[in-house]
This record gives sequence, structure tokens and C-alpha cells, in this order.
Amino acid sequence: MLKTPVIVVNVKTYAEATGKNALELASLIDRISKETGVNITIAVQATDIYICAQHVDIPVFAEHIDPITPGSHTGWTLPEAVKEAGASGTLINHSEHRLNLADIDFCITRAKDLDLDHIACSNNVLTSKAIAAFSPNFIAVEPPELIGGDVSVTTANPDVVRGTVEAVKHVDDKIKVLCGAGVKNGRDVAKAIELGADGVLLASGVVKAGDREKVIRDLVSAL
Ligand code: G3P
Repeated sequence: MLKTPVIVVNVKTYAEATGKNALELASLIDRISKETGVNITIAVQATDIYICAQHVDIPVFAEHIDPITPGSHTGWTLPEAVKEAGASGTLINHSEHRLNLADIDFCITRAKDLDLDHIACSNNVLTSKAIAAFSPNFIAVEPPELIGGDVSVTTANPDVVRGTVEAVKHVDDKIKVLCGAGVKNGRDVAKAIELGADGVLLASGVVKAGDREKVIRDLVSAL
């Protein structure tokens, strides 16, 4: 399982982190993680998993898996395929790629069967609590209205972080909790930890930054 505290950078489908750009960012993060000893993970598009996993030592995650087993499912993302490509884990149910509860359960089970680390995303405390019943490795709470914005969830809605930590640990205290949406700097990371989270999940703050190295170094400085 991912070591905590951890910073998870999800590159989504930003052009700045697609193909060669994904590898460039993964390499930068790999270098900073090695230099500082801080756990950082990158989640990339399925098409970029192989190249990134070949070149970096940090954990490379898929951004999504579909609730399927091998067979007749054209255009879907097979959990076995991301593992074979080199992913050590996956996001499940990101706000931008939601699944219903039964499919979240199925994906978590598939990830466990394949020994794929997994971060199941939720949008609020109640959803976090519901997903906790499936005992994923991680739950990441991200209020959708704050995703891609300038105000961190830790400032805009600290209660959703605190509430998720409390609700999740009440169901299963082995589940680690991350928070995300609007996270941009070391202060936001420090606040997440203070609120009881085991790390953060972020995207635009790193991917869209003018000086990514400076931003990543600031983020890790809080850990
Ligand atoms: O998965 C990370 C995410 O949805 C948060 O995005 O751009 O607000 O850091 P962002």
C-alpha cells in the first residue's frame, strides 16, 4: 500500500500532462520524491501508464478502471490491463468519472484481487461513509464544486475533511483518507494533515503551474 503521508498528483486529461508531457512530469516528481524522501504518486491516463512506469520509481496509478473482467468489453479499461502496463494502483470513482455504488464495490474488489492499490473518491461525508463499507485502501474526499478552483477544500470546507476522517475511521480505521480540490501549496497540505487526512489528491495546482518544480517543492515542504 502507498506509504503515507502522501501527495497524489492526478494529471487528468490536461494536454500539459499527456504523452511525452506525462513522462516529463512523472520524471520531475520522481526526482523530487527521491531527493526529499516524501511519498508522491502520479495518476496518468491509461495510454501513459506504460511509459511512465518504465521510467520512474514512484508509484504510477491509473486514473480509472472499469468494473469488468477480461472478455468482451470494447473500449473499456480492464483492471488487469493497467496492472500489466505497470500501474501499482488506480483511482476509482473520480468525480469526473463516476460509478454507481455497485460498480464502486466491484472495482474495489477487483483491485484487491489484483493487488492494485486503490483510492476511491467521494464527494461528501455521506458518500465517504458509504464507500468505507467496502474497505478500500484509501478514500479521497473532493467536493466537486471546488475541483479546479483556487480555494482549497481545507479552507473552503474543512468540515468535509474532518467529517470524512471521522466517518471513515468509525467504519474501518484501517482506511486512509485523502482530501482534494483546490489544493495548491504547502499550507494546504499542512492543513489537510492537521484535519486528520493522510495526504492530498491534486491536479491543476501542479499540472497547470508555470514553475512546477517550485510548486512541488512547496507542497512537499509541508511533509
Ligand atoms: O483528482 C484531483 C482533483 O479532482 C482535484 O483537482 O485541480 O482542484 O487540484 P484540482
